[in-house]
Amino acid sequence: MSDQAVGDPELRSARWYGKLDRDGFIHRSWMKSDGYPDDLFGGRPMIGICSSWSDLTPCNSHLDDLAEHVKRGVWEAGGVPLVFPAMSLGETQLLPTAMLFRNLMSMAVEESIRGNPIDGVVLLGGCDKNTPAQLMGAASVDLPTIVLSGGPKLSGQYRGERIGSGTDVWRFSESVRAGEMSAADFMAAEACMSRSKGFCNTMGTASTMACLVEAMGITLPQNGAIPAVDSRRAVLAHLTGRRIVDLVREDLRPSQILTETAFANAVRVCAAIGGSTNAVVHLLAIAGRLGVPFTLADWDRLGKGVPLLVNLMPAGDHLMEDFYYAGGVPAVMQELGDLIDTEAPTVSGASVAEQVAHSERFGSDVIHTVADPLQDEAGIAVLHGNLAPDGAIIKPVAATAALLQHTGRAVVFESIEDFKARIDDPDLEVDADAILVLKGCGPQGYPGMPEVGNMPLPRKLLERGITDMVRISDARMSGTAYGTVILQVSPESAAGGPLALVRNGDVISLDVAGRSVHLDVSDDELEERRTAWQPPPVEQERGYARLYVDHVQQANLGADFDFLLGSSGSEVKRESH
Ligand code: FES
Repeated sequence: MSDQAVGDPELRSARWYGKLDRDGFIHRSWMKSDGYPDDLFGGRPMIGICSSWSDLTPCNSHLDDLAEHVKRGVWEAGGVPLVFPAMSLGETQLLPTAMLFRNLMSMAVEESIRGNPIDGVVLLGGCDKNTPAQLMGAASVDLPTIVLSGGPKLSGQYRGERIGSGTDVWRFSESVRAGEMSAADFMAAEACMSRSKGFCNTMGTASTMACLVEAMGITLPQNGAIPAVDSRRAVLAHLTGRRIVDLVREDLRPSQILTETAFANAVRVCAAIGGSTNAVVHLLAIAGRLGVPFTLADWDRLGKGVPLLVNLMPAGDHLMEDFYYAGGVPAVMQELGDLIDTEAPTVSGASVAEQVAHSERFGSDVIHTVADPLQDEAGIAVLHGNLAPDGAIIKPVAATAALLQHTGRAVVFESIEDFKARIDDPDLEVDADAILVLKGCGPQGYPGMPEVGNMPLPRKLLERGITDMVRISDARMSGTAYGTVILQVSPESAAGGPLALVRNGDVISLDVAGRSVHLDVSDDELEERRTAWQPPPVEQERGYARLYVDHVQQANLGADFDFLLGSSGSEVKRESH
């Protein structure tokens, strides 16, 4: 009996379904319980639809509907669609932070793709961590892949005002603390902010990642901005289903799309759209899986000279819905001209140049021109200095310009609990020139590097009308947040970085133009403090959290696990029975 007797031996799935032996019987027979006829196992590409649908990830709760549209396209193109779950990370529900589980989800995605009889995969995701987790996992297998994002929510509407996911949470919350908004009004805004299914409607991390995967060519055009409930999102899903079948036949893989050039294009688009600082850690992690030489320094180098073109919250005024109507990512890439490498390939089969050639920009206030930008320099700045030897980042377009060069005395919080206990203490010694320093919120220390870097300001300063202060931590911040916030200080305090040595009253100097953050304490004094410093005890005794703290790398390397770097390919050597 032949063991490769039916189907197209070129297809990976023939490894499962092409055999006429006992193994082939087992693989086919159990699938036939779902009503699949014999000929579906005879050489049609098997397309996995890796869905991060979950009722507990409200931003992704419509992905089951969207998967049906992908299936239509796959059937139509001659493939067989097979939806499978991966973990789903709900940014607003998961504790202690969804970021703790990004690497776990990437492992689930990687092994699910590799272990199953699929020839290509559609990564169906949304909400901040799902897109990077899925792409990290898929990159380590390197089967033909297309990303399809769930799309943003419709714009929020509150008492005649358009409000944005996240961004207005931070604004309203500070208004309540300043005594300018009632608790009842604050609660009334909740439903007004989330009017439809979809991910955050601001240029937060989900929107940023949806736009950047489009900029990198691993999605079809307009993936970034079409609203979740717009029928054109369903059309995009249908087209994605059609295209992934062709991608399998062409054997076009992520490693051919996600090249150094694609990452460079993504950094520049991230600047032009005012994208989230979280993109830094996610793109570094994805590059690490592909072996692409792409570092934290590249974020600064490549983002230099890129203007802010897109007027979206939190850096501007509008919302994702408006961005789509104004032309979306293709219009931005066309406007960026020579700053984009338009020869880069995309999963559509066209180059970036061909893909954006017919894009149009509608109106003038949402997508600006290079000749008339919102700001001249929009790249994420990478800072170094004795406080952050391996780097820290700041998003200047979301900061207060006057604070980008600033010297102040540190007001230090040893943990998030310490911060919450003391920030509103009337006796806290703090003024508007002080610099708030938060420790213990890095990848190992929290663990999981939560979005707490945009620390709320002391109530007594809010009441005096202060709206921004310099803040420094080893945490991240929500992509929807704003302020003069230095993030992802590496090495983190729990790993013995200099951040751990800062004391109340120390003078810190920030010079974003000079790319420096400096602790004005002598080397001798720092050495003395280091000798006295004790690492915090590791509280995670077992399970995934222990694996995480033992293996997570620092933020400047993407916070991936050390043992997940690189790719293992798609081959599985042994049978299951
Ligand atoms: Fe899900 Fe913002 S909370 S995208």
